[in-house]
Amino acid sequence: MSYTNIVVENSNHICKITINRPDKLNALNKATIEELSAAFKSAESDSEIGVIILTGSGEKSFVAGADIKEFADFSIDQGKELSAKGHDSLFNLVENLSTPVIAAVNGFALGGGLELAMSSHIRIASSNARLGLPEVSLGVIPGYGGTQRLAQLIGRGKAFELIFSAGMMDAETALKWGLVNEVVEQADLMATCEKLASKILNNSPNAIAAAIRCVNANYQNGVDGYAVEIEEFGKCFGTEEFNEGTQAFLEKRKPNFRK
Ligand code: COA
Repeated sequence: MSYTNIVVENSNHICKITINRPDKLNALNKATIEELSAAFKSAESDSEIGVIILTGSGEKSFVAGADIKEFADFSIDQGKELSAKGHDSLFNLVENLSTPVIAAVNGFALGGGLELAMSSHIRIASSNARLGLPEVSLGVIPGYGGTQRLAQLIGRGKAFELIFSAGMMDAETALKWGLVNEVVEQADLMATCEKLASKILNNSPNAIAAAIRCVNANYQNGVDGYAVEIEEFGKCFGTEEFNEGTQAFLEKRKPNFRK
């Protein structure tokens, strides 16, 4: 598939997806959401790809939110549909992807941008990043999972503060609150993400996918995360990757999970 709003580059088992609307600070319009959805599905189904890095083009913005122009005249039903489709096609998809996703937050991560970063498994931010959910300043609320994932990541009290105030956190504050895993200079952002990706690539893709399912199980209603862990743990024993990992340890060599 060819894309107009994103750029997809595959190399060394890493798929780099860049949202490419710099003149609109990479705001998420419908077409961009559709392209992102397709690109994530395609990367997940490509056995050569072990990590996805998601970033925004330019030096100013990761994603400055959902495209405000597109929903400015929406009705109640259209608003509900926008949110539901977004959850289903992109934000839940990313969160539950079996391939790890690192968000390289290279600037503004606002509204849907922060929601996309929060759906990603890991967030590394550049020191110029500004993160927030400014929706209430527009008369709406975060509609792509932000009310749920922000509280999960930083706790309910701080989440309420950020949402009520429509404010922006700087990168260091986001680090302090656990909203991002690490903060680096912008010039080092991609190299830092790639270094982390290469560590991940040394490990069993099957076990990593199982770990994603287990961690996420804790946030699903009516699902016992411990029971999911027991099931997933057991299943690992039936995989070639488990044989390779344990044999490599016993033979005092590095495992090769990417034959
Ligand atoms: N939707 C649509 N367009 C957006 C956008 C968004 N969420 N965020 C930025 N843009 C567009 C601007 O309209 C402008 O386009 P134009 O040049 O055609 O007028 C362009 O991106 C540059 O933005 P601008 O506001 O001029 O940059 P700035 O440096 O002065 O301010 C921000 C940067 C991020 C503070 C500001 O753009 C902003 O507040 N954006 C909206 C953030 C938001 O509320 N997101 C949540 C949406 S639910």
